[in-house]
Amino acid sequence: MKIVTIVGARPQFIKYACIYNDLRKEHDEILVHTGQHYDYEMSKIFFDELDIPAPEYNLEVGSYTHGKQTALMLERIEKVLLKEKADIVLVYGDTNSTLAGALAAVKLSMLVAHIEAGLRSYRLDMPEEVNRVLTDRISKFLFCPTKTAVKNLKNEGMVKGVYLVGDVMYDAFLDSQKLLSKRKILSKLELKPKGYLLLTIHRQENTDNFKNLKSILSALIKAEEKIVFPSHPRTKKALKKIEGFKLKNFLPIKPVSYLDMLVLEKNARKILTDSGGVQKEAYWLGTPCITLRNETEWVETVEDKWNILTGAKSDKIINAIKNFNPSEKQRKIFGNGKASLKIARLMR
Ligand code: UD1
Ligand code: UDP
Repeated sequence: MKIVTIVGARPQFIKYACIYNDLRKEHDEILVHTGQHYDYEMSKIFFDELDIPAPEYNLEVGSYTHGKQTALMLERIEKVLLKEKADIVLVYGDTNSTLAGALAAVKLSMLVAHIEAGLRSYRLDMPEEVNRVLTDRISKFLFCPTKTAVKNLKNEGMVKGVYLVGDVMYDAFLDSQKLLSKRKILSKLELKPKGYLLLTIHRQENTDNFKNLKSILSALIKAEEKIVFPSHPRTKKALKKIEGFKLKNFLPIKPVSYLDMLVLEKNARKILTDSGGVQKEAYWLGTPCITLRNETEWVETVEDKWNILTGAKSDKIINAIKNFNPSEKQRKIFGNGKASLKIARLMR
């Protein structure tokens, strides 16, 4: 099959890193980077570290409002698809790059394959939820990471083309384990194992809603430990607009590479995050996760009591930093590390 893969944002590079070998063994595949993320630490760092081949196309869309960004991608992806005559367009997750890729494909009568299909937060005011729901609806192949995702699709009447393959992020996680011991990030930042908290924030509901951001910060400045904070560019910009917070226990750093992030996650006493990927990695590593949202797509991590939802509420966050101490066993619910291979073969 002629497959065109569309990526554009940080987690998509990580997902692609574990699948491209299998894809290229089975198919004639090319990579399109929309340019949604473009800073070195948000994009090229992953290509360098994870040996991802350079994209055949970089559409360099950059940052705009949702509508304009998605429209620019749509226009530029369409040109590539017309030229490359794809049989299948492969999209990942729930970003604007995902939706633009899927829409461009379906309007040219090309088949859409969606990795991470079926996830739901059931909040349509979240841009990612709109992207997921629409992408799933127009996909021919719906590759689900969990049984919950399959069930969610069934509830919406989607059963044809639905495959439970496991989570490609879990494949990437397993592949990377042997590489972690060589990383120097802990000594570089002068951190002791289990001697710090790790924080990531980037969701629109927390960065663009200053009430939420202030509420999160007012909890975190009360923490006794150092807070290591790889700051997403969106959050960095939002923080500049907020006054009155002395983040004296914070260690803000640039976004780090995938392997360094896994080391930071593994050695943190607890993780505070609104990221989807980070919630799962915390679960796999056995690091307690405090999720700064009111709902999660990764409900299994909450059911198994390794993840607690605090939203942006100060008192809940403070309480979780002190008292949330999971001890349950994690289940094997994200596949067996072979999701990528299954996906590549199913598209034959
Ligand atoms: C996007 C995805 C989100 C995903 C996240 C992964 C959408 C709607 N959201 O959110 O689902 O979880 O990526 O990290 O697609 N910026 C830079 N440099 C960059 C990239 C972004 O400065 O390299 C800044 C720009 O000011 C931009 C803002 O960050 O406006 C937000 O970037 P954008 O890609 O629109 O959304 P994310 O918050 O990154
Ligand atoms: N990540 C990273 N460096 C960072 C922060 C996150 O490599 O500084 C990784 C993280 O380990 C996970 C992925 O990026 O694999 C999650 O991406 P992100 O939080 O941007 O998006 P989401 O998963 O919420 O869509």
